Amino acid sequence: MNFFSEALEAYIENHTTPEPEVLKELNRETHAHVLMPQMLSGHLQGRFLKMLTCMIQPKQVLEIGTFTGYSGISIAEGLKDGGTIHTIDINEELLAMVQKYVKESGTEKKVKTYTGNASEIIPTMNYVFDMVFIDADKKNYSNYYDIVFDKVRKGGYIIADNVLWSGKVVEKASKPDVDTKAIMDYNNKVTSDPRVENVLVPIRDGLMIARKLV
Ligand SMILES: C[S@@+](CC[C@H](N)C(=O)[O-])C[C@H]1O[C@@H](n2cnc3c(N)ncnc32)[C@H](O)[C@@H]1O
Repeated sequence: MNFFSEALEAYIENHTTPEPEVLKELNRETHAHVLMPQMLSGHLQGRFLKMLTCMIQPKQVLEIGTFTGYSGISIAEGLKDGGTIHTIDINEELLAMVQKYVKESGTEKKVKTYTGNASEIIPTMNYVFDMVFIDADKKNYSNYYDIVFDKVRKGGYIIADNVLWSGKVVEKASKPDVDTKAIMDYNNKVTSDPRVENVLVPIRDGLMIARKLV
């Protein structure tokens, strides 16, 4: 869903550095061959994630929800030499496509893929993360926040996608659906957590950026 008019959306994209050709191709192939292609971050958010990565200069990044690799490659582009993005997805059918585009983008040395359930894989990871990008099943957002929190360094970032959930977070439904409720709970949880400061950035479907203070 776009919160801006089509004209403003186009203006914003036209005044943002273009995505690399390899990500354009990945976007095209995802739309042609993969179910729910709208899950992919896309041009504007991809450039924003790369820009954030350049600003934060993380050494270890965790991504929960690789999908076809668009956001992971965008983040990898912003990593310095020696930096790694560890990216997890439960859907093994997408792995070959992810690996193909990681190779074509020249980010192979920076991307480590994991296949399986993030809730089971994360507890086995022995890294201190500088940045985490949560973009998987919405019902588990709060769980992911809890299981990554102690693995993030003081001053590190936990970023979550789709926190506006197409505007459903402010709809006055008597009983929000499960995913909407999970996103609303996540936004409330982060905002009321004194261990972080946070900004909800209204880019694409909303990014919640939390910085760990303790
Ligand atoms: C919104 S897509 C990720 C989009 C991707 N970050 C991008 O911007 O291109 C969500 C992904 O989370 C994955 N996923 C869902 N539940 C998961 C789980 N329990 N563990 C790991 N991955 C999961 C799905 O298979 C899907 O590929």
